[in-house]
Amino acid sequence: MRNLTEANVTEMAARSFAESKSDRFEFVIANLIKHLHAFAREVKLTHEEWNTGLQFLTDVGHITDGRRNEFVLTSDILGLSALVDLLNTAPGATQGSALGPFHEADAPLLENGASLVRNNEGEHVVIRGRVLSVDGQPIAGALMDFWQTAKNGLYPQQDSDQAPDNLRCRIRTDSDGSYCLKTIKPGGYPVPYDGPVGALLRAGGRHAWRPAHFHWIVSADGFQPVVTEVFNAEDPYIEGDAAFGVRESLVIQFTHKDSQEEAARFAVTNPFFLVNFDFHLQPLASAHKS
Ligand SMILES: [Fe+2]
Repeated sequence: MRNLTEANVTEMAARSFAESKSDRFEFVIANLIKHLHAFAREVKLTHEEWNTGLQFLTDVGHITDGRRNEFVLTSDILGLSALVDLLNTAPGATQGSALGPFHEADAPLLENGASLVRNNEGEHVVIRGRVLSVDGQPIAGALMDFWQTAKNGLYPQQDSDQAPDNLRCRIRTDSDGSYCLKTIKPGGYPVPYDGPVGALLRAGGRHAWRPAHFHWIVSADGFQPVVTEVFNAEDPYIEGDAAFGVRESLVIQFTHKDSQEEAARFAVTNPFFLVNFDFHLQPLASAHKS
């Protein structure tokens, strides 16, 4: 490589992986190099700026541990996580959104229609709908994994006053694909603001808040699972999610209900909010998207 020049360095670096046993790996890393180099050329990257970038990544590594992943957060606030979610959403299926760091496998499996309210403070919400194939056929027995924050915007992992399984569960849809859960309005929360990502947000004049949301993972045999979030249309941060998780199709109306009769029908305290949301899953046989 003695003949390396500004003109050929990109091609040389990209070709240096050509002996890989994986065509996909070679394709991805060659393009990563090409786009990184194009970026450096476009902004005429200085040594000082390059060092600042490397220091940022070093700081991100230092603050990352088993409980906090600043790399994922970096991806989130740059919109990259959202792009990957959208690129991998099957046509006609419910759009994907952030998994976030607070999902726990093996949440309690509850009866469809169960209440998670227990001793939680907050306004009561009935959320219901159906799980359907993209062609509209109901999916019976779909597994729905659900979790959310308490009214204070914290997950149980962040709040010792909450039981570990607070406001999280799994349910299965009925034979007609329907589901129902009773819960409380979740609280919005800021992404961690005390590390390198916080500094990056401040440098850009950005806030750290995410609109309140319900997390869902919906899966069924023979279908591509959906990892997503749904949001309250009235949330003050619905137009400014720091993590770019909001999509139009995931924003839902929380309909205020003040009816003893309806509250009795759902076995909730009056008044309450009623939320309807259907999920659409893509059959696995046609789920591939190149
Ligand atoms: Fe969340």
